[in-house]
Amino acid sequence: HPVVKIGLLGLGTVGSGVVKMLENHPEALLERSGNDVEITKILVRDLDKQRAVDVPRERLTQNVAEIIQDPEIDIIIEVMGGEEETKQIVLAALEQGKHVVTANKDLIALHGAELSRIAEENGVELHYEAAVAGAIPILRALRQSMAADQIVEVMGIVNGTTNYILSKMTGEGASYDEVLAEAQMLGYAEADPYADVSGLDAARKMAILASIAFHRPVALADVAIQGIEKITQEKIAAARAQGGVIKLIGRAQRVGADVLVSVGPMVLSNDHPLALVNDSYNAVHVRGEALGEAMFYGRGAGMMPTASAVVGDLLAVLRSPQMAQGHAELRLAGVLR
Ligand code: NAP
Ligand code: HSE
Repeated sequence: HPVVKIGLLGLGTVGSGVVKMLENHPEALLERSGNDVEITKILVRDLDKQRAVDVPRERLTQNVAEIIQDPEIDIIIEVMGGEEETKQIVLAALEQGKHVVTANKDLIALHGAELSRIAEENGVELHYEAAVAGAIPILRALRQSMAADQIVEVMGIVNGTTNYILSKMTGEGASYDEVLAEAQMLGYAEADPYADVSGLDAARKMAILASIAFHRPVALADVAIQGIEKITQEKIAAARAQGGVIKLIGRAQRVGADVLVSVGPMVLSNDHPLALVNDSYNAVHVRGEALGEAMFYGRGAGMMPTASAVVGDLLAVLRSPQMAQGHAELRLAGVLR
């Protein structure tokens, strides 16, 4: 059976989760796609760092060209993060005819439309389900199951770190600094947690969600953003006294011909469905003209939940007509059995 070679960019929280998932169930992708996979090269910054997974040292490299220019590698999994430099790497990969799976919302919120166009021009797949709401398959649901409807509103909790912080501050009276440090330790926070607490990470996800839900590009610059830095125990107590709870809420609404998108702390009454979403969980509530209401709930951050979405995208690539076509050609040429 064919073995598809993969280049992994990044071996931190998410990259290690991807390696673990493939190790835990080595048969799964073969059984479900007809293709086996092997991660042959892994980009890291520090070759000597202690890792959460054991990988042969000779697979690690600091030289991205070794991966992008390797003609044997068909699929790139980008879980290194970053914007401009990473965009150039992903562009180069797509232009080399490699499929790309990424968890990078910074990249997709700014350059998703352009990268999707380049992927299409090069006849390759670009998937980024893990970039929004971790393990929750909300992008696929909006793109496929709900695509025929007229979506009216998408509202949700789409940042695990801030939900973890607010939940612990509310439930246990914990201090902001203490729980932010915990969220970093648990692998929920971004490399620079300013992106989480400032609302920027949620805004990136809302721009991506809104672009898909409303079938038009929604720019990150058009999202009104407020973070949780000014949320104190006093504010949480005041919300509680009113029968409510503070959550960082992303909202994208169709208003006439426009789409309005915002992120900011809101007081939700205790019986609101999003008020019950705690810890690092995320939830996305969708209202559509025909569908009425739908709610999606699951782990929004962390090693294995995020890996689940990344490896799900990998499976989608392995099942794509492009991969089948490539294998058919190799079989005809006698390279594969
Ligand atoms: P991380 O733990 O900081 O890991 C990043 C990895 O990329 C590290 O292994 C690092 O190498 C490598 N790397 C970064 N820049 C590099 C460079 N310039 N050259 C070579 N290697 C480089 O980050 P993460 O939490 O896994 O997140 C990765 C991506 O997934 C980000 O885009 C993030 O927004 C996204 N994401 C994360 C989560 C989550 O829950 N953590 C969820 C959804 C999406 P070293 O290890 O050698 O430093
Ligand atoms: N830092 C992000 C969060 C990771 O806390 O939601 C998942 O995108």
